[in-house]
Amino acid sequence: MKILIVGSGGREHALGWKLASSPLVDEILAAPGNPGLAEIGRCVPIKAEDMAEIAALAVREKVDLVVVGPEGPLAAGLADRLKQVGVAVFGPSAAAAELEGSKAFMKDFCTRHAIPTADFRVFDDAIRAKAFLGEREPPFVIKADGLAGGKGVILAETRAQADAAVDEILFLKKFGSAGQRIVIEDFLPGEEASFFAISDGVSAIPLIAAQDHKRAYDGDKGPNTGGMGAYSPAPVFTDAVLGQTMERIILPTVRGMQDEGRPFAGVLFAGLMISADGPKLIEFNVRFGDPECQTLMRRLKSDLAPVLMAAARGDLASVPALEWDNRPCATIVYAANGYPDHPLTGSEIRATEQASRVEDVVIFHAGTRRDEEGRLRAAGGRVLNVTALGRDLRQALDRAYHSCSLIDWPGGFYRSDIGWRALG
Ligand code: AMP
Ligand code: GLY
Repeated sequence: MKILIVGSGGREHALGWKLASSPLVDEILAAPGNPGLAEIGRCVPIKAEDMAEIAALAVREKVDLVVVGPEGPLAAGLADRLKQVGVAVFGPSAAAAELEGSKAFMKDFCTRHAIPTADFRVFDDAIRAKAFLGEREPPFVIKADGLAGGKGVILAETRAQADAAVDEILFLKKFGSAGQRIVIEDFLPGEEASFFAISDGVSAIPLIAAQDHKRAYDGDKGPNTGGMGAYSPAPVFTDAVLGQTMERIILPTVRGMQDEGRPFAGVLFAGLMISADGPKLIEFNVRFGDPECQTLMRRLKSDLAPVLMAAARGDLASVPALEWDNRPCATIVYAANGYPDHPLTGSEIRATEQASRVEDVVIFHAGTRRDEEGRLRAAGGRVLNVTALGRDLRQALDRAYHSCSLIDWPGGFYRSDIGWRALG
């Protein structure tokens, strides 16, 4: 098989790394890829958003399967485009990507199919939204309807903050057209987990859960980010919770999407709040989480290539249950100073080879580039993802942090408390 990976982050490097280990895979292409992917395959300088060029590349190179990493191209219809030109693709259609692309759609869908989620109302009018807030108690949860790069959720402690959030989204257009509508929903108490399942539109198979750390700094302080670290397994995600999640959330979603004429084929990422009465859906994403994916790929023992191909072909029922490494995995995100608001790019990163020789460590590239002399430089917010397996989470974390300490990069920072919840 020749596989084309679309995207340029740590998630895409981890997918490429895993797929390259498959005996079924002859060649990995990446568009645009990154220096990590360049070590295992061929990077082609086409942006993930350039749908016509990606489709042309897939046809020209006779690619057997395209694996789409980020949500933007999926919401814009890249999977539909590839299918039109006869290329198999792992990733949902634009219609199915609405599960992530519109929170109002997702919430109404949950109502139609009795999927447990926070009670909510949708507003496009600030006066009505504020009147509704006036009838409620804090904390308030206010969300922009559309894709806002993970920044479109505001948790407000006071009524004044909540009113300000409504104005920023609906009047000041802080999130552009993603904020034409807002969702106001109940605050859910509990512990969060990210769970993943793969669907071919008809059936679904579970992957495993991970926990992410969204805030930039230690102690869950600072601004929200795409994720500063992850670990798996997530102790809160017991076998009982897994069963409930499949029965109450994943399978009804797959059936419901099929019934509504927008079958979901790809990976369904359920952001969950684990409460006393079971899992509740916070949000759906229609792609792997980043950095959760890096953690999952390190623990997956089965060959990923036939699984993604079966999902693309509507043939998932033929796939045997996946096997996972029992050892926990930890991922530390090494970010550029100033991330997430103003990451400083361009600084040189040294000694990654030495750092990757730590036992059971694999370092994935996210926002890196090579300069003319071949030196590695920061080129984005989240720059490197240091992953490690260990006999327990403590050992996995120790190995990952030891590896981080060997990387010579004064221009970056990382959280030093990844996994704190699970360590108790
Ligand atoms: P999202 O972008 O939807 O993942 O939301 C960002 C974060 O806001 C989530 O990871 C949760 O920590 C939090 N959050 C979102 N919705 C709720 C809710 N209804 N109750 C409590 N926390 C929430
Ligand atoms: N790490 C969370 C996400 O990928 O959305």
